[in-house]
Amino acid sequence: MSEDFNIIKYKTVSSTNDKAKECLQSGKPENFTVIISEEQTKGRGQRGNFWHSEKNKNLTLSTIIFPNFLPVSKQFYLSKVVSLGIIDYLNSKKQGFKIKWPNDIFYNDKKICGILIENSLTGTEIKSSIIGIGLNINQKKFPENLPDAISLKNITDKNYNIENEVNELLTFISKKYNLLKTLNFTEIDFLYHKNLYKINKLSNFKDVNGTFKGKIKGTLSEGNLIVQAKNDLIKYYNFKEIEFL
Ligand code: BTN
Repeated sequence: MSEDFNIIKYKTVSSTNDKAKECLQSGKPENFTVIISEEQTKGRGQRGNFWHSEKNKNLTLSTIIFPNFLPVSKQFYLSKVVSLGIIDYLNSKKQGFKIKWPNDIFYNDKKICGILIENSLTGTEIKSSIIGIGLNINQKKFPENLPDAISLKNITDKNYNIENEVNELLTFISKKYNLLKTLNFTEIDFLYHKNLYKINKLSNFKDVNGTFKGKIKGTLSEGNLIVQAKNDLIKYYNFKEIEFL
């Protein structure tokens, strides 16, 4: 399985996304080159947050791909297929994982995986994309400031061989990426919405106007979240414009 992926392993890096960036700057790496490290000293999360991961316990990796076939306006579909690949991988261990918009992976109300995608654009084309994935595998305890974190070990009570898991995970992701290559956006949307956390469930949210009750109805192709408020008003949210309570 591993021969499809060019895996470069490190013991310690500041961030695998940063290493992937260096790799892109120093030449043209193969499609699906994967940078993986046992430890990150400056693991980066969304919104400038630090990504915590205990050394040698979890998956912290970045994959370099070249989705030149994808219009920039559809770049959120990268996030959709990567999330779906991760869901397929996790559901092969145990059912019940969901995608929390835009691209966190949850088990019940706890986060098992975060994704940080960094695209390099040239006009209307996506030149290259770094897909950073932090997936909690064998870590048993998380710091107090991360009460919502969970690992596969916590959920299944099993220990995993990280090397095997990398290959399995990448295989699931590349399958879903192939779906994107066929530009089958309808199928991807169907699967993404089917696996979306809290879809069609009356839930509490917060936006600039305060807290409100509403139901997630889906996403636009640009990635915006569609929420129907209790008064039936449909609202569209960009990243960071809405909070789940
Ligand atoms: C999030 O905030 O949910 C996104 C977290 C992404 C973390 C991964 S770990 C591997 C890769 N390298 C990084 O520095 N960040 C991503």
